[in-house]
Amino acid sequence: MIAIGNDHTGYELKKEVIAYLEEKGLEYKDYGCGECSASDYPEFAHKVGKAIQNKECDKGILICGTGIGISIAANKMKGIRAALCHDCFSAEATRLHNDANILAMGARVIGPGLAIKIVDTFLNTEFSGAERHIHRIQMLEEE
Ligand code: RB5
Repeated sequence: MIAIGNDHTGYELKKEVIAYLEEKGLEYKDYGCGECSASDYPEFAHKVGKAIQNKECDKGILICGTGIGISIAANKMKGIRAALCHDCFSAEATRLHNDANILAMGARVIGPGLAIKIVDTFLNTEFSGAERHIHRIQMLEEE
């Protein structure tokens, strides 16, 4: 199950991502927001992050204007590894190396064509499982 969340700037791109998920027959839960003129990106980062923390969903997609604020908010949550990706190389690498559980994107940065390719790459790349990467991911939870 994929959790999807966005602020007001990400609403249009979210609709494109949902159309892709539906076309592929992938299950998702939409945590908002719907169409609106203003919203606060941390709210949707927290909703999607919680869905992953409580295992309701195994991956998430977050969209704001830049992807920055919404990924910062998600990355403050325990066990969340949100990767801001605007290219397919990063989307593949973050799954292979970081076992990222959330993909963040900026709707003001990239268009829907590239965004969908990034989503496709992110969702279809498995974590490498390499010992060194497991060790580094465990270190992320330490202070
Ligand atoms: C909203 O104007 C904008 O600040 C937000 O979407 C995001 O880009 C923040 O990082």
